Amino acid sequence: MKKTSLFIGLAFGIALTFFSCAGRQEAKEIRSGELWLDDAGIHVNAHGGGILYHEGTYYWYGENKSDTTSAAMVGIMCYSSKNLTDWKNEGVVLPVVTNDTTSDITQGCIMERPKVIYNEKTGKFVLWFHLELKGKGYAAARSAVAVADNPTGPFKYLRSGRINPGKLPFDMTDEQRAVFDTLDIDKYKEWWTPVWYDAIAKGLFVKRDLEGGQMARDMQLFVDDDGKGYHIYSSEDNLTLQIAELSDDYLTHTGKYVRIAPAGHNEAPAIFKKDGTYWMITSGCTGWEPNEARMFSAPSIWGPWTQHPNPCIGDDAHLTFHGQSTYVLPVHGKKDAFIFMADNWRPKHPSDARYIWLPILFREGKPVIKWFDSWTLDDFSNGKLEEMNLALMDSIR
Ligand code: DGJ
Repeated sequence: MKKTSLFIGLAFGIALTFFSCAGRQEAKEIRSGELWLDDAGIHVNAHGGGILYHEGTYYWYGENKSDTTSAAMVGIMCYSSKNLTDWKNEGVVLPVVTNDTTSDITQGCIMERPKVIYNEKTGKFVLWFHLELKGKGYAAARSAVAVADNPTGPFKYLRSGRINPGKLPFDMTDEQRAVFDTLDIDKYKEWWTPVWYDAIAKGLFVKRDLEGGQMARDMQLFVDDDGKGYHIYSSEDNLTLQIAELSDDYLTHTGKYVRIAPAGHNEAPAIFKKDGTYWMITSGCTGWEPNEARMFSAPSIWGPWTQHPNPCIGDDAHLTFHGQSTYVLPVHGKKDAFIFMADNWRPKHPSDARYIWLPILFREGKPVIKWFDSWTLDDFSNGKLEEMNLALMDSIR
């Protein structure tokens, strides 16, 4: 009798464990800096990337990096996932061109920081990326656009170019315009002097590039709640960020743009919106070497943008934990859950670069980024991160 009830009890326990496990999968650990294997057991190759959430699936787009060079030898990659930890390789969604050396995207060009947004009106997926022409270093500073009917492509390459030729920032005042008109590039042959910085802030390079269009290197896309799309990029030889409005189909620029942090030398802009405030995390400009993150906020996409201290705290915060921002991902279906995504570059072995994904904490409403060896998406709802937020309130940097 005793044995029977023990057996029934055990069987009941096992069944209970089985059904509760089957009903709900434990969120898997996110371990920044380690190898992240895809469905084929290969390290995810999607650097400088960004993520699109569409109809229940996350699509991660990024640069395919080879073992020996950071130039584009393959093209833009896409991986898909339902849970942000198991990634299926969806392949190359925009390949480099291998049979036409006159193509903008001929093999050996530079394709960086691809981002994809979905256009509700046209039903198309729009990919923008930073393009440098083969053999020209970083001089071209172009933006390129491609379009697809499906998130996994194939993307059709449309064109590349500088941004908003002939257009001045729309918020330039008459006073600023009067000073701008007096700027003479021939008077500023020597770079990095105080007078040169001052002239840059007043728009020296906007004027230099007015006719051909503004330069654009590190870039981001952002779709606002009203469906309007924006392109945020390091312009003016990486000295000033610009935010430009995209056309309704997201395939061109409307001519409306503003400058942010003139002469502030920002790269790697990653933008998100929380409770009506726009936040932007950027880096300084030190090539592939990490530097201290910067942070800005604004009540409107058009500004005014205010700079805040580095959002990172703790060991190696001054080096953004050896990473450089690439995207901030709002986790679907979880309020106030944002993931800071950064690249830990390995320029000597570019394909071995690692990913840093950290949950964004908030101290008195301001984003704070802290290193975690390991965390899970459940931490957004199980109270762990909230506890940290509270602890942060009392902490001293
Ligand atoms: C830093 C940028 O953020 C990267 O995307 C890349 O352009 C490197 N510079 C090249 O040195």
